[in-house]
Amino acid sequence: MSRYQLSHLPRITGGPGARELAGELTAARLGKGAQVLLVADPGLKATGLIDDVEASLRKAGLGVSVFSEFGGDPTIASADAAAAQARRTKAKAVVSLGGGSALDLGKVVAAVATTAATARRSAEDYELCKRPFPRKRLVSLVIPTTSGTGSECTRTAILTRSDKAKVWLWGEELKPDEVILDPETTLSLPPVLTAWTGIDALVHALEATTNGNATPANNVYAHEAIRLAVSNLPDAVGKGSDLAAREGLQRAAALAGIAIDNCGTAVAHNIGHALGSLRPVQHGRSVALGMIATLDWNIEDDDGRFAAAARAMGLTSSADLPAAFETLVRGIGIKVSLADEFAGITATRLAEQMARPENAAMRASNRRTIEEADLLRFAERVLTQA
Ligand SMILES: [Fe+2]
Repeated sequence: MSRYQLSHLPRITGGPGARELAGELTAARLGKGAQVLLVADPGLKATGLIDDVEASLRKAGLGVSVFSEFGGDPTIASADAAAAQARRTKAKAVVSLGGGSALDLGKVVAAVATTAATARRSAEDYELCKRPFPRKRLVSLVIPTTSGTGSECTRTAILTRSDKAKVWLWGEELKPDEVILDPETTLSLPPVLTAWTGIDALVHALEATTNGNATPANNVYAHEAIRLAVSNLPDAVGKGSDLAAREGLQRAAALAGIAIDNCGTAVAHNIGHALGSLRPVQHGRSVALGMIATLDWNIEDDDGRFAAAARAMGLTSSADLPAAFETLVRGIGIKVSLADEFAGITATRLAEQMARPENAAMRASNRRTIEEADLLRFAERVLTQA
């Protein structure tokens, strides 16, 4: 028996149409008449979702200004511009609507916007806990429109610096106060994005329950996330209008987010981040490929964690896990071969990237110790599997 800690959760309000409660939930914390910054993914403009949330906020008597000047990999500059807008409009809350990127951006803005404009602090000043976040922060409410990153339930955010380097931020101040899980907001997500983001959620849950930090207490989240992801991913991808499948996958992603918030990830995320820093490859796909390249090696040393994860997947033994995982990945249409995209990148180069300091925590948290030779073998495998 070992000691464990489960972190606090944001309040989670779920169900079809729950986005209409954004105004009520925010106003209950601020009072009527307060000003809100709505950080909304510009890709959602045609879906009507931004209008829905803005209308809900206004109906609750709140003032709204919208910030949508950002792309798929939001930058430090975007975070600073959004924080400046929050200060200018005297916003008391940030409501973030979109995929993991929009949520990460909004979470950072809520944490940093309380510094005076004269302090000229940039979001970059808080990189890797370089300095503590301001003690007070704005109310933070998030509405995910993809089911994958789990950002809605975590204390982390990733932004991109002007030199394209990824900047990690983490701290209690980043964890939202309120999460709205409305499966209707994910209905318009195309199959390929549903597959990529959804498999990320499954990998989160699998890694959080099998890595060296895993605890039985956290498994209540991780195992349920595995069960929900495996049973709903195929229909969420294949029948995009299936609201029950969308809801199940959305809940899987949030529970998996809680699971990684407590216990972190492992080698598949090490490989995924290393791949993503060398060539553009979608995060969920890259971690799925990292999982395929390492699962059979990891289960050789199983102390029961993989066997329990396999049972959560509906399997009888951990020996069935690698094939079942790969079948699921291929079945939802994820391309396994990286040959076209990674031409010119050698296994040695990738292994170097996997060994870099920014990826060290994900290597160290893997329960089975990863030697240098293992890194190279995994790199060879992930680059050549077809
Ligand atoms: Fe991930």
